[in-house]
Amino acid sequence: MTAAHPSRNRVAVMHGVNLDQLGRRPAGHYGTLTLMQLEGRIAGFADELGLTVQFFQSNHEGAFVEELHRLEDTVDGLLLNPGAWTHYSWAIRDALEIAGLPAVEVHLSDVDGREEWRRVSVIRELCVATVSGRGPDGYRDALARLRDELSGKAE
Ligand code: DQA
Repeated sequence: MTAAHPSRNRVAVMHGVNLDQLGRRPAGHYGTLTLMQLEGRIAGFADELGLTVQFFQSNHEGAFVEELHRLEDTVDGLLLNPGAWTHYSWAIRDALEIAGLPAVEVHLSDVDGREEWRRVSVIRELCVATVSGRGPDGYRDALARLRDELSGKAE
């Protein structure tokens, strides 16, 4: 059954540095899907939840920042996997603050159970939730969390 559509239902899914290389990265952490296949899955999850999604990926920090600058009037919420930028990019943290949109941080791998440096997230304090270590299904959880936020169901 398709869930009722929330009125604020436009979500930008943003993949950061090296996520375009999915399918070539260590499968134990990131699985075997390519980015295109992952986006297909995410589009299916969004459909089930009554959300519309648009995708963006860049390996260039400035391009990622500029996309965040542009999104305010075109989407209602964000799903972000900035890749390694998560751990140190204060520029992306500040751009997320400027965007001023509800955001969920998502990681395919269990960043808190890996190297010490991956346990740091400079965007976490600006996000309503973080989902990590659940592989592609984590994007469904993250979209569901964002949907609750957008429809006012989150506490
Ligand atoms: C990642 C985790 C990061 O530490 C890493 O640099 C990535 C992907 C993840 O999805 O698990 O590129 O964000």
